[in-house]
Amino acid sequence: TRVAIVFGGRSPEHGISCVSAGSVLAALDPDEFEVVPVGITRQGQWVLASGDPSRLAIADRKLPEITAGSGAELVLRADPAAGGLMVLDPAQGPVALADVDVVFPVLHGAYGEDGTIQGMLEMADIPYVGANVFASAAAMDKEFTKKLCAVEGIPVGPYAVLRAGMSLSEEDKERLGLPVFVKPSRAGSSFGITKVDDWADLDAALVTAREIDSKVLVEGAVVGREIECGVLEGEAGGAPEASVLAEVRMIGDRDWYDFEAKYLFADEVCEYDVPADLPEPVARQVRDYAARAFTALDCSGLARVDFFVTPQMDVYLNEINTMPGFTPTSMFPRMWSASGLEYPKLVNRLIRTALH
Ligand code: DAL
Ligand code: MG
Repeated sequence: TRVAIVFGGRSPEHGISCVSAGSVLAALDPDEFEVVPVGITRQGQWVLASGDPSRLAIADRKLPEITAGSGAELVLRADPAAGGLMVLDPAQGPVALADVDVVFPVLHGAYGEDGTIQGMLEMADIPYVGANVFASAAAMDKEFTKKLCAVEGIPVGPYAVLRAGMSLSEEDKERLGLPVFVKPSRAGSSFGITKVDDWADLDAALVTAREIDSKVLVEGAVVGREIECGVLEGEAGGAPEASVLAEVRMIGDRDWYDFEAKYLFADEVCEYDVPADLPEPVARQVRDYAARAFTALDCSGLARVDFFVTPQMDVYLNEINTMPGFTPTSMFPRMWSASGLEYPKLVNRLIRTALH
């Protein structure tokens, strides 16, 4: 099976995607898969990159990066006569992406996890791992994730949507209370998110979030534990399957699970419990909500659904990631490993599912 692993990309999560791809590449059985490693630079150029996982790791707390010089440059060209999308390598001759059996877009955030590359692959008729155009776009957008889940009866915390130019009304301030989290509606890995403890800091937080997305969500803080659940598309058309749960616990004085805590200092400031220590009925509730959220957004392949669980054991959905991190510290593969599906088997299953 020829599989194109596509990584890097135009979103702020570029470096995380490279690290995720490094882990995926390391897990692919070379006897079974012929890999075409395709990097996308921050500017959007496609390059035939190195598939060496050791070059796609965090070193000295710095994330890897795909640059135009990191491989043969590829030219994207839709070529209907060739049956799809051609990626031409001017140095080595044409590499037809249409000739790969399947694409694994290990891309996080905009232009990767949001339906854009999925649409391009649909146009070219190339199977791909993960959510379709609609589910990718819906899950990327925290506003629509909440709306679609709420109508299915999955609890979500209080929030306000501020479209471009809008500011938070006095009624919303009263309704949400402090602290609030100010988030770009479409982003990941906590990029652009600020915790606001004083309304005087709201405007600065809005500016920060709007550097990433003109639409911003202001969420009332749900005081509770961070609980995550992996979901896989059911095999042979069966119902989606939920993994054992994980809990992320912050240790020391770091306030919340921000970008640095997730990736750069995870070893120092986070502890992970897999499985999470929750009463069985609560765990069952979370897993049920996770599977229902997967269906509510019409997801396929995989997703990681993140929740808050309050001290009263009330469960709130936080968000859905249709291409969750696959880095060595990422929860999705760890939760499946704890559920009996080891990393190489997980990657294998994702690719097999995409080919059906
Ligand atoms: N957006 C990051 C990669 C995650 O959800 O794991
Ligand atoms: Mg996310």
